[in-house]
Amino acid sequence: MSSATSSETQEYDDTLLVAARADAATDVVTLTLRHPAGRELPGWEPGAHVDLVLGDGLIRQYSLCGDPADRTAWRIAVLRAPDGRGGSARVHDALTEGAAVRVRGPRNHFALRPAARYLFIAGGIGITPILPMTAAAEAAGADWTLLYGGRTRASMAFADQLTGRYGEKVRLVPQDEAGLPDLVTYLAEPGPGTLVYCCGPEPLLRVAEERCQAWPTGALRTERFQPRPVDTSDEDDGSEQANSGGFEVILDRSGRSLTVKPGHSVLRTLEEAGVPVLYSCEEGTCGTCETDVIEGEVDHRDSVLTDEERSSGETMMICVSRCRGPKLVLDL
Ligand code: FES
Repeated sequence: MSSATSSETQEYDDTLLVAARADAATDVVTLTLRHPAGRELPGWEPGAHVDLVLGDGLIRQYSLCGDPADRTAWRIAVLRAPDGRGGSARVHDALTEGAAVRVRGPRNHFALRPAARYLFIAGGIGITPILPMTAAAEAAGADWTLLYGGRTRASMAFADQLTGRYGEKVRLVPQDEAGLPDLVTYLAEPGPGTLVYCCGPEPLLRVAEERCQAWPTGALRTERFQPRPVDTSDEDDGSEQANSGGFEVILDRSGRSLTVKPGHSVLRTLEEAGVPVLYSCEEGTCGTCETDVIEGEVDHRDSVLTDEERSSGETMMICVSRCRGPKLVLDL
């Protein structure tokens, strides 16, 4: 891929070089990516991620964890997932210093909103989007703390950097020394003007969501690496709300009408009809395929949108989400 930007999508898409590689923790490497000609890279803000297009159909998303002010380099940290699907192993095995890799993005569905106070929560490699957030919160003069859990101290990337720089604002909780992070205490008091940012494994996210039910709407923002479990209990029950059946999709700009068959995604239906669509994870976690909805009741099955965004019905992730009614009108 030589063009820096796809004309269809206007998204940055280019081949970068691994300019540096370092061990950040047990089974975690950091990669510093630069353009081979030294060109500037697109700007980004804390919470953003990029796609690494790794070949053989492997596309993986990694949060940017370097300095947003450095427009010459992007940094990511990658955990070799022992039971992963091959993406992280490919990164660890193939992306040595000097290797080339196609990169797309950045995108941000986990943006740091202004607040007087932040409670950050990270589990394991979930520290990656949180790391630049702590720097941004510090630079903004916000009151913040970080609760950071991991299996062992040696497995916790950037732990020394964080405690060295921020001292007691950072609470490290290695599980083998101290058990699981105590979210009950950490999230006990919904503080005025406080936002909670949480990234990590599903059990940690679920506890954070439970604890924050008593918090003001929108106070908690989460980022998932894996799809959130979806309740499909109303599938095939014959009710009007059954949502895995077929429905019609109208493409508002062209007026085309397509039928989404039962069990077929909107994304696949569009692709098969030759409609250009941008996508990456195909499991509702990356946000790449977000599409504006003009009409129709969306059955949201993604792991990206907040409850408010879902309720508004303004957009949907067409790789996984469907329509609860017979007709969906998209801004395509
Ligand atoms: Fe990733 Fe749809 S392609 S959310």
